[in-house]
Amino acid sequence: MKRIGMLTSGGDCQALNAAMRGVVKSVLNSGEQVEIYGFLDGYKGLIYSNFRMLTWSDFSGILTKGGTILGSSRTPFKTIKDPDENGLDKVDAMLQTYHKLRLDCLVVLGGNGTHKTANLLRQEGLNVVTLPKTIDNDLYGTDMTFGFQSAVDIATDCIDMIHTTASSHGRVFIVEVMGHKVGYLTLNAGIAGGADIILIPEIPYDIDKIVDKINERNAKGSRFTILAVAEGAISKEDAKLSKKEYKEKMKNYKYPSVSYEIADKILEKTGKEVRVTVPGHTQRGGSPCPYDRVFASRLGAEAGKLILKGEYGFMVGYRNREIVKVPLEEVAGKLKMVDPKSAIIKEAKMLGISFGD
Ligand code: F6P
Repeated sequence: MKRIGMLTSGGDCQALNAAMRGVVKSVLNSGEQVEIYGFLDGYKGLIYSNFRMLTWSDFSGILTKGGTILGSSRTPFKTIKDPDENGLDKVDAMLQTYHKLRLDCLVVLGGNGTHKTANLLRQEGLNVVTLPKTIDNDLYGTDMTFGFQSAVDIATDCIDMIHTTASSHGRVFIVEVMGHKVGYLTLNAGIAGGADIILIPEIPYDIDKIVDKINERNAKGSRFTILAVAEGAISKEDAKLSKKEYKEKMKNYKYPSVSYEIADKILEKTGKEVRVTVPGHTQRGGSPCPYDRVFASRLGAEAGKLILKGEYGFMVGYRNREIVKVPLEEVAGKLKMVDPKSAIIKEAKMLGISFGD
């Protein structure tokens, strides 16, 4: 008999349900008896012992369902060791819930912050297996996270739709893509959607280079220009600031996001009409694309295998086209970013895409 706790933490994404289904199916199909404790709304459920007993039927019919059947929330790692508003020691409370329920292990699905807490729980002696979810694909130790490809599809659809209206009106359009501090999502959706300019945090931009590209396109007879801009894109000047200086500057920032600042500057320098489209949380919504369904199911099945073997302290990841187990201490606290010297950036530049550098 295995007593398995499960939770989904941080921002949601597509294929969380597919991944949980994969874990449960693989364990149940082995013939092992299981009790599944689904903690609600991420680590909060573990802290406050808020859970639901789940059975086979809870995992049936959820392969294609977006979101998470367990709910999710952000429980910042930064403050995880601080007592809650009632003085409760959150880490201690999580350990107590785990031991009180006599769990054999905890399956945690999450991104960067989630993995820091998962590693902390491992250090505290809990048996933890994690699965890499995030549309940002910024998790260290895995080449791919589930949710990413689905989000690429949605952001690409958005750029595709902007293309037709941009060409009718001969305007400059900016599509702002999620991704937090990294540019994988913008880079991939930008290339797939045929963006002319792609701005990502890893390659700080020079507004004059952006203007040059727009003018160059006009000179060649293209009436419109499409920019895929990462929500974390940063100018060369801002990239030179210290963290403190940048924070200070942002206190008086007058734009809703970086895309509006870039739009303003393009208008100022070219006199061209610029429109900004922000698909926002639609990028995390809806059902997972087939790639993510397959990928998350495979990761889930492999996590089930680790549980059956009693191998804990790992994230089930994907490296060099193989599913691998990565020690949690290798994953926690590290960010995976786009390498500006990588082949994909060079190839995008060969296609004529400007990165504003
Ligand atoms: O990490 C996933 C993500 O969607 C990021 O791309 C984005 O910056 C952030 O979450 C948005 O967070 P929230 O849903 O808390 O607004």
